[in-house]
Amino acid sequence: MKLNIALLAGDGIGPEVINQAVKVCDAVAVKHGHEIKWIPALTGAAAIDAVGEPYPDETHKICINADAILFGAIGHPKYDNDPSAKVRPEQGLLKMRKKLGLFANVRPTFTFPSLIDNSPLKRERIEGTDLVFLRELTGGIYFGEKGRKDGGETAFDTCTYTREEVIRLAKKGFELAMTRSKKLCCVDKANVLETSRLWRETVQAMEKDYPEVEVSYEFVDAVAMRLVQWPNSYDVLITENLFGDILTDEASVISGSMGLMPSASVGEKTSLYEPIHGSYPQAAGKNIANPLATILSAAMMFEDAFGLKQEAESIRNVVNKSLAEGVVTEDLSGKNKAYKTSEVGDWLVLNL
Ligand code: IPM
Ligand code: MN
Repeated sequence: MKLNIALLAGDGIGPEVINQAVKVCDAVAVKHGHEIKWIPALTGAAAIDAVGEPYPDETHKICINADAILFGAIGHPKYDNDPSAKVRPEQGLLKMRKKLGLFANVRPTFTFPSLIDNSPLKRERIEGTDLVFLRELTGGIYFGEKGRKDGGETAFDTCTYTREEVIRLAKKGFELAMTRSKKLCCVDKANVLETSRLWRETVQAMEKDYPEVEVSYEFVDAVAMRLVQWPNSYDVLITENLFGDILTDEASVISGSMGLMPSASVGEKTSLYEPIHGSYPQAAGKNIANPLATILSAAMMFEDAFGLKQEAESIRNVVNKSLAEGVVTEDLSGKNKAYKTSEVGDWLVLNL
Protein backbone atom coordinates (compact mmCIF):
# COMPACT_ATOMS: atom_id res chain seq x y z
CA MET A 1 0.00 0.00 0.00
CA LYS A 2 1.18 3.55 -0.75
CA LEU A 3 0.70 5.89 2.20
CA ASN A 4 0.99 9.67 1.84
CA ILE A 5 1.36 11.13 5.30
CA ALA A 6 1.62 14.83 6.14
CA LEU A 7 4.22 15.29 8.86
CA LEU A 8 3.65 18.24 11.19
CA ALA A 9 6.38 18.18 13.82
CA GLY A 10 5.53 21.60 15.28
CA ASP A 11 7.15 22.97 18.43
CA GLY A 12 8.98 22.00 21.61
CA ILE A 13 9.52 18.25 21.84
CA GLY A 14 7.37 17.76 18.73
CA PRO A 15 10.27 17.26 16.28
CA GLU A 16 12.10 14.82 18.60
CA VAL A 17 9.13 12.55 19.25
CA ILE A 18 7.98 12.76 15.63
CA ASN A 19 11.41 11.57 14.48
CA GLN A 20 11.05 8.40 16.53
CA ALA A 21 7.56 7.77 15.17
CA VAL A 22 8.87 8.16 11.61
CA LYS A 23 11.61 5.60 12.27
CA VAL A 24 9.10 3.13 13.70
CA CYS A 25 6.55 3.67 10.90
CA ASP A 26 9.23 3.23 8.25
CA ALA A 27 10.33 -0.01 9.85
CA VAL A 28 6.75 -1.29 10.01
CA ALA A 29 6.22 -0.30 6.38
CA VAL A 30 9.29 -2.23 5.23
CA LYS A 31 8.24 -5.28 7.25
CA HIS A 32 4.72 -5.31 5.77
CA GLY A 33 5.56 -4.18 2.23
CA HIS A 34 4.16 -0.63 2.32
CA GLU A 35 5.65 2.54 0.95
CA ILE A 36 5.36 5.69 3.04
CA LYS A 37 5.82 9.13 1.54
CA TRP A 38 6.29 11.70 4.31
CA ILE A 39 5.35 15.25 3.40
CA PRO A 40 6.73 17.66 6.03
CA ALA A 41 4.86 20.92 6.66
CA LEU A 42 5.18 23.88 9.00
CA THR A 43 2.90 24.56 11.95
CA GLY A 44 2.82 26.36 15.31
CA ALA A 45 5.52 28.73 16.56
CA ALA A 46 7.91 27.17 14.04
CA ALA A 47 5.58 28.34 11.25
CA ILE A 48 5.14 31.81 12.80
CA ASP A 49 8.94 32.19 12.86
CA ALA A 50 9.27 31.02 9.26
CA VAL A 51 6.27 32.63 7.53
CA GLY A 52 4.42 34.68 10.18
CA GLU A 53 1.39 32.33 10.36
CA PRO A 54 0.81 29.28 12.62
CA TYR A 55 -1.19 27.28 10.02
CA PRO A 56 -0.08 28.48 6.58
CA ASP A 57 -2.18 27.79 3.46
CA GLU A 58 0.64 25.68 2.09
CA THR A 59 0.37 23.41 5.16
CA HIS A 60 -3.40 23.17 4.75
CA LYS A 61 -2.96 22.16 1.13
CA ILE A 62 -0.53 19.41 2.13
CA CYS A 63 -2.86 18.17 4.90
CA ILE A 64 -5.95 18.08 2.76
CA ASN A 65 -4.19 16.10 0.02
CA ALA A 66 -2.59 13.59 2.39
CA ASP A 67 -4.09 10.23 3.44
CA ALA A 68 -3.41 11.03 7.09
CA ILE A 69 -1.62 13.60 9.25
CA LEU A 70 0.90 12.81 11.97
CA PHE A 71 1.25 15.72 14.34
CA GLY A 72 3.74 16.50 17.12
CA ALA A 73 2.85 19.47 19.31
CA ILE A 74 2.17 23.17 19.23
CA GLY A 75 3.10 25.93 21.70
CA HIS A 76 5.98 28.11 22.80
CA PRO A 77 6.61 29.83 26.19
CA LYS A 78 7.39 33.15 24.54
CA TYR A 79 3.69 33.38 23.63
CA ASP A 80 2.32 31.89 26.87
CA ASN A 81 3.77 34.76 28.86
CA ASP A 82 2.58 37.44 26.46
CA PRO A 83 -1.22 37.80 26.58
CA SER A 84 -1.01 40.68 24.10
CA ALA A 85 0.60 38.59 21.32
CA LYS A 86 -1.38 39.09 18.09
CA VAL A 87 -0.51 35.72 16.55
CA ARG A 88 -0.30 32.64 18.76
CA PRO A 89 0.78 29.08 17.91
CA GLU A 90 -2.46 27.65 19.37
CA GLN A 91 -4.47 29.62 16.80
CA GLY A 92 -2.80 27.38 14.23
CA LEU A 93 -4.15 24.28 15.92
CA LEU A 94 -7.68 25.69 16.17
CA LYS A 95 -7.59 26.86 12.56
CA MET A 96 -6.36 23.48 11.44
CA ARG A 97 -9.15 21.68 13.35
CA LYS A 98 -11.77 23.99 11.86
CA LYS A 99 -10.48 23.99 8.27
CA LEU A 100 -10.02 20.23 8.21
CA GLY A 101 -13.41 19.67 9.87
CA LEU A 102 -11.84 17.61 12.67
CA PHE A 103 -14.92 17.64 14.87
CA ALA A 104 -14.21 14.56 16.99
CA ASN A 105 -11.17 14.05 19.16
CA VAL A 106 -10.77 10.41 20.17
CA ARG A 107 -8.74 9.97 23.34
CA PRO A 108 -8.43 6.45 24.69
CA THR A 109 -7.31 5.94 28.28
CA PHE A 110 -5.97 2.58 29.32
CA THR A 111 -3.43 1.15 31.72
CA PHE A 112 -0.27 -0.81 30.98
CA PRO A 113 0.15 -3.81 33.30
CA SER A 114 3.87 -3.08 33.76
CA LEU A 115 3.19 0.56 34.71
CA ILE A 116 0.23 0.33 37.05
CA ASP A 117 2.35 1.48 39.97
CA ASN A 118 3.51 4.59 38.07
CA SER A 119 0.08 6.09 38.43
CA PRO A 120 -0.47 8.24 41.52
CA LEU A 121 -3.81 6.44 41.83
CA LYS A 122 -4.12 3.15 43.70
CA ARG A 123 -3.75 -0.06 41.71
CA GLU A 124 -7.15 -1.42 42.78
CA ARG A 125 -8.88 1.70 41.46
CA ILE A 126 -7.34 1.80 38.01
CA GLU A 127 -6.55 -1.81 37.09
CA GLY A 128 -8.34 -2.78 33.90
CA THR A 129 -9.37 0.76 32.96
CA ASP A 130 -10.20 0.98 29.27
CA LEU A 131 -12.26 3.99 28.33
CA VAL A 132 -12.47 6.39 25.40
CA PHE A 133 -13.33 10.06 25.38
CA LEU A 134 -14.94 11.54 22.30
CA ARG A 135 -14.40 15.25 22.68
CA GLU A 136 -16.20 17.68 20.36
CA LEU A 137 -13.42 19.71 18.78
CA THR A 138 -14.70 22.45 16.48
CA GLY A 139 -17.46 24.12 18.47
CA GLY A 140 -18.39 25.42 21.90
CA ILE A 141 -16.62 28.16 23.80
CA TYR A 142 -13.40 27.68 21.82
CA PHE A 143 -15.05 28.99 18.68
CA GLY A 144 -17.89 31.18 19.93
CA GLU A 145 -17.97 34.93 19.84
CA LYS A 146 -15.37 36.43 22.13
CA GLY A 147 -13.97 39.84 22.92
CA ARG A 148 -13.68 42.76 25.27
CA LYS A 149 -16.01 45.62 26.07
CA ASP A 150 -16.24 48.52 28.54
CA GLY A 151 -12.88 49.77 27.35
CA GLY A 152 -11.31 46.38 27.95
CA GLU A 153 -12.59 45.99 31.52
CA THR A 154 -15.05 43.22 30.61
CA ALA A 155 -14.21 40.09 28.62
CA PHE A 156 -16.53 37.43 27.21
CA ASP A 157 -16.36 34.03 25.52
CA THR A 158 -19.58 32.54 24.22
CA CYS A 159 -20.45 28.85 24.16
CA THR A 160 -22.63 27.93 21.19
CA TYR A 161 -23.72 24.55 19.81
CA THR A 162 -26.07 23.57 17.03
CA ARG A 163 -28.13 20.36 17.16
CA GLU A 164 -26.31 19.20 14.02
CA GLU A 165 -22.93 19.50 15.76
CA VAL A 166 -24.18 17.44 18.69
CA ILE A 167 -25.71 14.79 16.43
CA ARG A 168 -22.55 14.15 14.40
CA LEU A 169 -20.41 13.80 17.52
CA ALA A 170 -22.95 11.69 19.40
CA LYS A 171 -23.38 9.43 16.36
CA LYS A 172 -19.67 8.60 16.52
CA GLY A 173 -20.09 7.94 20.25
CA PHE A 174 -22.99 5.52 19.74
CA GLU A 175 -21.15 3.76 16.91
CA LEU A 176 -18.00 3.41 18.99
CA ALA A 177 -20.01 2.13 21.95
CA MET A 178 -21.54 -0.55 19.69
CA THR A 179 -18.03 -1.89 18.95
CA ARG A 180 -17.14 -1.96 22.65
CA SER A 181 -19.18 -2.70 25.77
CA LYS A 182 -22.26 -0.75 24.59
CA LYS A 183 -22.08 1.83 27.37
CA LEU A 184 -22.19 5.53 26.63
CA CYS A 185 -21.92 8.43 29.06
CA CYS A 186 -23.01 11.90 27.98
CA VAL A 187 -21.08 14.43 30.06
CA ASP A 188 -22.71 17.83 30.43
CA LYS A 189 -23.80 20.53 32.85
CA ALA A 190 -27.49 20.41 31.99
CA ASN A 191 -28.49 21.67 35.44
CA VAL A 192 -27.02 25.06 34.50
CA LEU A 193 -26.12 25.47 30.82
CA GLU A 194 -28.52 25.80 27.89
CA THR A 195 -25.97 24.25 25.49
CA SER A 196 -25.82 21.25 27.80
CA ARG A 197 -29.60 20.93 27.73
CA LEU A 198 -29.43 20.86 23.93
CA TRP A 199 -26.77 18.13 24.16
CA ARG A 200 -28.86 16.05 26.55
CA GLU A 201 -32.10 16.44 24.63
CA THR A 202 -30.37 15.57 21.34
CA VAL A 203 -28.63 12.48 22.69
CA GLN A 204 -31.84 11.31 24.39
CA ALA A 205 -33.64 11.52 21.05
CA MET A 206 -30.93 9.40 19.41
CA GLU A 207 -31.21 6.57 21.96
CA LYS A 208 -34.01 4.85 20.04
CA ASP A 209 -31.69 4.32 17.06
CA TYR A 210 -29.24 2.39 19.25
CA PRO A 211 -31.49 0.32 21.53
CA GLU A 212 -28.59 -1.88 22.66
CA VAL A 213 -26.56 1.01 24.01
CA GLU A 214 -27.05 1.84 27.66
CA VAL A 215 -26.76 5.63 28.00
CA SER A 216 -26.06 7.54 31.19
CA TYR A 217 -26.17 11.31 31.64
CA GLU A 218 -23.78 12.77 34.17
CA PHE A 219 -22.73 16.26 35.19
CA VAL A 220 -19.18 17.23 34.38
CA ASP A 221 -18.24 18.03 37.98
CA ALA A 222 -19.38 14.59 39.12
CA VAL A 223 -17.52 12.91 36.26
CA ALA A 224 -14.33 14.76 37.25
CA MET A 225 -14.63 13.06 40.61
CA ARG A 226 -15.78 9.60 39.54
CA LEU A 227 -13.12 9.45 36.84
CA VAL A 228 -10.39 9.08 39.43
CA GLN A 229 -12.54 7.13 41.89
CA TRP A 230 -14.06 4.52 39.57
CA PRO A 231 -12.49 4.89 36.10
CA ASN A 232 -13.49 1.28 35.51
CA SER A 233 -17.15 2.20 35.45
CA TYR A 234 -16.78 4.14 32.18
CA ASP A 235 -16.49 2.96 28.60
CA VAL A 236 -17.30 5.60 25.95
CA LEU A 237 -17.78 9.21 27.09
CA ILE A 238 -18.99 12.01 24.83
CA THR A 239 -18.66 15.64 25.72
CA GLU A 240 -18.30 19.20 24.49
CA ASN A 241 -15.03 20.92 23.68
CA LEU A 242 -13.94 22.56 26.94
CA PHE A 243 -15.18 19.80 29.26
CA GLY A 244 -13.34 17.31 27.06
CA ASP A 245 -10.14 19.33 27.14
CA ILE A 246 -10.09 19.29 30.93
CA LEU A 247 -11.30 15.75 31.56
CA THR A 248 -8.90 14.13 29.09
CA ASP A 249 -5.89 15.67 30.83
CA GLU A 250 -7.28 14.39 34.10
CA ALA A 251 -7.81 10.93 32.61
CA SER A 252 -4.20 10.74 31.45
CA VAL A 253 -3.14 10.49 35.10
CA ILE A 254 -4.72 7.04 35.21
CA SER A 255 -2.20 5.65 32.75
CA GLY A 256 0.75 6.90 34.79
CA SER A 257 2.26 9.29 32.26
CA MET A 258 0.98 11.83 29.82
CA GLY A 259 3.85 10.68 27.63
CA LEU A 260 1.93 7.52 26.79
CA MET A 261 -1.47 8.64 25.62
CA PRO A 262 -2.27 8.83 21.90
CA SER A 263 -5.19 10.54 20.20
CA ALA A 264 -6.92 10.90 16.87
CA SER A 265 -8.92 13.81 15.52
CA VAL A 266 -11.39 12.76 12.89
CA GLY A 267 -14.14 14.39 10.90
CA GLU A 268 -14.88 15.48 7.39
CA LYS A 269 -11.53 15.27 5.64
CA THR A 270 -8.09 13.90 6.46
CA SER A 271 -7.72 12.52 10.00
CA LEU A 272 -4.97 13.69 12.31
CA TYR A 273 -3.03 11.64 14.86
CA GLU A 274 -1.21 13.26 17.76
CA PRO A 275 0.10 12.64 21.28
CA ILE A 276 -1.91 14.43 23.95
CA HIS A 277 1.09 15.75 25.87
CA GLY A 278 1.73 19.06 24.12
CA SER A 279 5.04 20.79 23.43
CA TYR A 280 6.68 20.37 26.89
CA PRO A 281 9.18 23.21 26.29
CA GLN A 282 11.25 22.41 29.41
CA ALA A 283 12.39 19.19 27.75
CA ALA A 284 12.78 20.46 24.19
CA GLY A 285 16.08 19.66 22.52
CA LYS A 286 17.27 17.48 25.43
CA ASN A 287 16.44 14.10 23.90
CA ILE A 288 14.60 13.08 27.09
CA ALA A 289 10.92 13.26 26.06
CA ASN A 290 8.85 10.10 25.92
CA PRO A 291 8.16 9.25 22.26
CA LEU A 292 5.61 6.51 23.00
CA ALA A 293 2.45 8.64 22.84
CA THR A 294 3.38 9.70 19.32
CA ILE A 295 4.31 6.16 18.34
CA LEU A 296 1.01 4.86 19.72
CA SER A 297 -0.75 7.63 17.79
CA ALA A 298 0.93 6.28 14.67
CA ALA A 299 -0.48 2.85 15.58
CA MET A 300 -3.96 4.40 15.71
CA MET A 301 -3.24 5.90 12.29
CA PHE A 302 -2.32 2.53 10.76
CA GLU A 303 -5.47 0.94 12.13
CA ASP A 304 -8.07 3.68 11.66
CA ALA A 305 -6.86 5.67 8.65
CA PHE A 306 -5.49 2.77 6.61
CA GLY A 307 -7.30 -0.26 8.03
CA LEU A 308 -3.91 -1.89 8.73
CA LYS A 309 -4.67 -3.74 11.96
CA GLN A 310 -1.67 -6.05 11.99
CA GLU A 311 0.74 -3.17 11.53
CA ALA A 312 -0.91 -1.33 14.42
CA GLU A 313 -0.69 -4.45 16.58
CA SER A 314 3.00 -4.91 15.85
CA ILE A 315 3.66 -1.34 17.01
CA ARG A 316 1.62 -1.83 20.19
CA ASN A 317 3.34 -5.13 20.90
CA VAL A 318 6.84 -3.72 20.61
CA VAL A 319 5.85 -0.72 22.77
CA ASN A 320 4.54 -3.10 25.44
CA LYS A 321 7.78 -5.03 25.22
CA SER A 322 9.88 -1.90 25.73
CA LEU A 323 7.78 -0.99 28.79
CA ALA A 324 8.06 -4.49 30.23
CA GLU A 325 11.83 -4.52 29.70
CA GLY A 326 12.32 -1.04 31.14
CA VAL A 327 13.52 0.58 27.92
CA VAL A 328 11.89 3.85 28.85
CA THR A 329 12.59 7.57 29.15
CA GLU A 330 13.10 9.32 32.49
CA ASP A 331 9.41 10.01 33.12
CA LEU A 332 8.94 6.26 33.59
CA SER A 333 12.35 4.92 34.61
CA GLY A 334 12.16 5.59 38.37
CA LYS A 335 15.47 4.57 39.93
CA ASN A 336 16.49 2.54 36.89
CA LYS A 337 18.42 3.62 33.84
CA ALA A 338 16.66 6.30 31.78
CA TYR A 339 16.93 5.87 28.02
CA LYS A 340 17.12 8.83 25.66
CA THR A 341 14.23 9.62 23.30
CA SER A 342 16.23 8.45 20.29
CA GLU A 343 17.47 5.32 22.10
CA VAL A 344 13.89 4.24 22.76
CA GLY A 345 13.12 4.80 19.05
CA ASP A 346 16.18 2.79 17.99
CA TRP A 347 15.31 -0.05 20.36
CA LEU A 348 11.76 -0.26 19.01
CA VAL A 349 12.99 -0.39 15.41
CA LEU A 350 15.47 -3.13 16.29
CA ASN A 351 12.81 -5.18 18.09
CA LEU A 352 9.95 -4.82 15.65
C1 IPM B 1 -5.35 20.05 23.47
C2 IPM B 1 -4.63 21.34 23.81
C3 IPM B 1 -5.23 22.44 22.97
C4 IPM B 1 -6.70 22.58 23.33
C5 IPM B 1 -4.52 23.79 23.09
C6 IPM B 1 -3.04 23.69 22.81
C7 IPM B 1 -5.16 24.84 22.22
O1 IPM B 1 -4.70 21.61 25.17
O2 IPM B 1 -5.24 19.58 22.33
O3 IPM B 1 -5.99 19.48 24.36
O4 IPM B 1 -7.04 23.24 24.32
O5 IPM B 1 -7.51 22.00 22.63
MN1 MN C 1 -5.75 20.12 26.34
